[in-house]
Amino acid sequence: MKGVILHGGAGTRLRPLTFSGPKQLIPVANKPVSQYVLEDLVNSGVTDIAIILGETFPELVREHYGDGSKYGCRITYIYQGKPLGIAHAISLTRDFVGDDKFVVYLGDNLLQYGIKEYVEYFLSSDLDGMVLLKEVEDPRAFGVAELNEDGELVRIIEKPREPPSKYAVIGVYFLTPVVFDIIRKLRPSWRGEYEITDTFQLLMDEGYKVGYKIIDGWWFDTGKASDILMVNATILDERIKRDVKGVVKDSKIEGRVCVGEGTEIVNSVVRGPAIIGKNCVVKDSFIGPYTSVGNDVKILASSIEYSIILDGAVIKGINRLEESLIGRYSQIVRDEGNRNVVQMNLGDYSKVTI
Ligand code: DAU
Repeated sequence: MKGVILHGGAGTRLRPLTFSGPKQLIPVANKPVSQYVLEDLVNSGVTDIAIILGETFPELVREHYGDGSKYGCRITYIYQGKPLGIAHAISLTRDFVGDDKFVVYLGDNLLQYGIKEYVEYFLSSDLDGMVLLKEVEDPRAFGVAELNEDGELVRIIEKPREPPSKYAVIGVYFLTPVVFDIIRKLRPSWRGEYEITDTFQLLMDEGYKVGYKIIDGWWFDTGKASDILMVNATILDERIKRDVKGVVKDSKIEGRVCVGEGTEIVNSVVRGPAIIGKNCVVKDSFIGPYTSVGNDVKILASSIEYSIILDGAVIKGINRLEESLIGRYSQIVRDEGNRNVVQMNLGDYSKVTI
């Protein structure tokens, strides 16, 4: 089975962070979202992988993943450019896929238990396509599946105003090469995209066998800053183990905290689950639960909780920074005297003085 990771798109909902990089490279627990996707594919035995690149800094994606050998896979890059739709991106993989079955994984989707069992199921099945479903409270922001009384999949629609069920179609699609003929027959949707949901609908309408599985565990589509903070907290909670390197002076490191080499923590408290990267300075500060701090960050006389601070940022004199996503090399520096709560969503190289 081959794998395709969608790494294009415009990332408009994550501006300003996506002004300087694709959204799928935003780190959660100090690892880009799309790296979880790649690792899930590799762990599922899918090691021949195409990455679809968009217009937003595609060179950063190539730089991060290279030829894939570091991750135990082989990567082929395919340039899509403008985000004309998930089905359009898939249509570009015709030569890469050849005669194999394949799985398309949106580079901003994360699943608690990964996709291994579904890869195995699809490989041993005679299905032409398969979707994964997850029951959600409000499915209007997603593709939605309609099942009949016998539990058969009868319809898939994109972002319906009145959803026929609570089953969201998640961003992992199992396909066979018959899909390429189907995509050729599609017309753009109301939002101007070649939709993956229309693709599956047409597969079904033309009599192909489309199956589904309802997944266990959590699933996140990291399309918005609040989603990213939630995934960050969840991954820190479930996957971080205590591993303190660097230098710790007159400080308390409580619980599951990961500290990288070359980092100095002085006169501070760090309460896990939290991760702090390499070569950071944390002084006279409190770093609270569910916080990820990248490399080369300075946190001075500040208190931070439930946030992501990217590489090279400087935070000084901020009494309570919460639920914030701070871009690379941003600086938040407070003038003396103002001690109120602040909440921010800053892009790379921002500078805020309050
Ligand atoms: O997350 C699941 C949802 O993903 C599904 O329920 C929907 O049916 C599906 O259409 C999709 O909806 P979104 O509106 O969330 O898709 P978005 O535009 O965010 O794109 C999903 C990913 O695919 C994202 O990582 C960007 C990438 N992409 C998207 C388009 C449209 C591309 O690489 N190329 C594209 O042309």
